[in-house]
Amino acid sequence: MTTVDTAPPLDPQSFRSDFPILNKTIHDGKPLVYLDNASTTQRPRQVIDAIVRMYESEYANVHRGIHWLSDQSTDRYEDAREKVRQLINAQHRHEVIFTNGTTAAINLVARSWGDSNLKSGDEIILTEMEHHANLVPWQQLAERTGCVLKHIPITDDGQLVMDTVDSLMTNRTRLVACTAVSNVLGTINPVKQVIQRAHDAGAVTLVDAAQSVPHMATDVVDLDADFLVFSGHKMMGPSGVGVLYGKEALLDAMPPFLGGGSMIRRVKLDSFEPAELPAKFEAGTPPIVPAVGLGAAIDYLQNIGFDAIHQHELLLTKKAHQILEGIGGIRFLGPIPELKSGIVAFVVDGIHAHDVAQLLDREGVAIRAGHHCTMPLHKRLKIGASSRASFYLYNTLEEIEILGQALEKARSVFQRKRS
Ligand code: ALA
Repeated sequence: MTTVDTAPPLDPQSFRSDFPILNKTIHDGKPLVYLDNASTTQRPRQVIDAIVRMYESEYANVHRGIHWLSDQSTDRYEDAREKVRQLINAQHRHEVIFTNGTTAAINLVARSWGDSNLKSGDEIILTEMEHHANLVPWQQLAERTGCVLKHIPITDDGQLVMDTVDSLMTNRTRLVACTAVSNVLGTINPVKQVIQRAHDAGAVTLVDAAQSVPHMATDVVDLDADFLVFSGHKMMGPSGVGVLYGKEALLDAMPPFLGGGSMIRRVKLDSFEPAELPAKFEAGTPPIVPAVGLGAAIDYLQNIGFDAIHQHELLLTKKAHQILEGIGGIRFLGPIPELKSGIVAFVVDGIHAHDVAQLLDREGVAIRAGHHCTMPLHKRLKIGASSRASFYLYNTLEEIEILGQALEKARSVFQRKRS
């Protein structure tokens, strides 16, 4: 994950009309202010058109060489794989496996790599800030194998305590799995350092890049990541498609996870031989059209540029901190804006997160409230729930002002109720 400070400023007004849903008004004419992008993002016309075009004129199942339409569909699907390869700078196209999403990709690694490589007493290192998707599959693996889970602690302002990493590693450490960007704190983690230390200890690494790939340039070779996973819907692609990147040697050595059509070379009544990569891990009909839509989203993002996107989100994050600080009674989760991606989670003194979200919704502002699939993180921070505003390239400074006004209104509603 790399960020540079040199990109020219982004003007979201110059491309917002590409996103039909952002023109919506709700609740008696209030403009929709969509600030729930860490949950899922909106799609530009270019992605919607790519999906429609595919269904209208190029869709069939992907069995190369069976008939003309199938060849068209296969070409589009494999073009999308190549776009993903280029996006993350993987060395080989067959190191890109399409899954249903980040969760499916992590479960694939836990079941396939985990079951065949871990035994009782082996250790996996995670962090206290992981999403449930990067906790539960390893807990299930621990139940199956007797392996042990350890966690890199975090500071009160939501950064990994890197000093503890080496002391957590032992000669039984087999895997270090870490999020690149926290979906709550927004913290941009030093994953390259984590990977280096894991490799020094002889461990394999998995990067949960669901919140980083959509927002910043990613280079799996530079990171030296063994596995890296992310989702299409968080980067303006369709839901139902995600990516597992794995180094060729690791993927080659892993048994298939799901069995069925497409993942085989040969089947007898009592046995099968698996296909080569990537088909070995893509049993059944894959997410053909979602993958093509993801390819169109990648084109769109690259056209704008990840440096510009990151700088824009930093601007929005700084503005949000500044405005929310001015309101008072708000505790931010996570570090200062300069150390995070475009995610601002907070707790409002005396108002439950769900009430905050509901009051903001009345003003047309969409945020997420709850534990955001990170119950252990919320326990660590000694809170039950939080509110979270999360930004993307199409959000504007004016929308951050509307967020601030809506929050002030929410506070005054509650103050009136209390007095
Ligand atoms: N992982 C998504 C979020 O953080 C759903 O909201």
